[in-house]
Amino acid sequence: MRTSILAANWKMQKTVSEAVRFLEAFLPLVADADAVEVVIAPPFTALGRCGEELEGSNVKLASQNVNNEEKGAFTGEIAPAMLRDVGCSYAIVGHSERRALYGETDAFIAKKAGALLAAGLLPIVCVGELLDERESNRTFDVIGRQLAGSLAEVPVERASEVVIAYEPVWAIGTGKTATPEIAQEVHAFIREKLGEAFGSAGKDMRIQYGGSVKPENVYDLMAKPDIDGALVGGASLDPDSFAKIVQFEKQGVAQ
Ligand code: PGA
Repeated sequence: MRTSILAANWKMQKTVSEAVRFLEAFLPLVADADAVEVVIAPPFTALGRCGEELEGSNVKLASQNVNNEEKGAFTGEIAPAMLRDVGCSYAIVGHSERRALYGETDAFIAKKAGALLAAGLLPIVCVGELLDERESNRTFDVIGRQLAGSLAEVPVERASEVVIAYEPVWAIGTGKTATPEIAQEVHAFIREKLGEAFGSAGKDMRIQYGGSVKPENVYDLMAKPDIDGALVGGASLDPDSFAKIVQFEKQGVAQ
């Protein structure tokens, strides 16, 4: 049984005081959400304070990025052990914005994922096709290549701890969610590839969907067999909205 994982990716948004205000409103709303895993990824500057606020709560902390090196002359970079130090359990790697805007390659993402596992943190590895790749029927090629490349340094015995986020780039921040059917089709393909790479551990790996997830569409997405969670940008910035996403089962009843 895979535990659903709902994660908030705040991107470059929220100061420390804004993050704290969010948590003060959000934590009571999700205090009884014990059947799912809830994760918040604030910007680096708010991690330490959020780590303190989350102590003893049922919500986990993630970073939005990490460097693969342990320490040294890497100006501007943050090491896995530094993230553990401030209370992170997870780190997002390979987000499409990092791939597109900062030139991150699958090989670099693979190193980050390997370094996170070695340091006792769990990677959320993002993959996703561009609009023109989908329109030219290259979705499965692209996703297959990104998975093979980005997971190359995940040891088989650790694979079940790794989370994959399928985020079609054309759905991120656009309001255009993939239909549950389109998402499930790709998730099933990802599940098949994980099985090829990691054997039976592939069945235990959680695959989140990301791209314009909102309270109104999360239930139908989560109802699909290979969708095990959501990585949420815009709709995670407001505590009520993200709490509704965490309580996705109630959204189904309401409709
Ligand atoms: P969005 O972002 O929910 O705003 O589309 C998702 C993401 O980029 O992780």
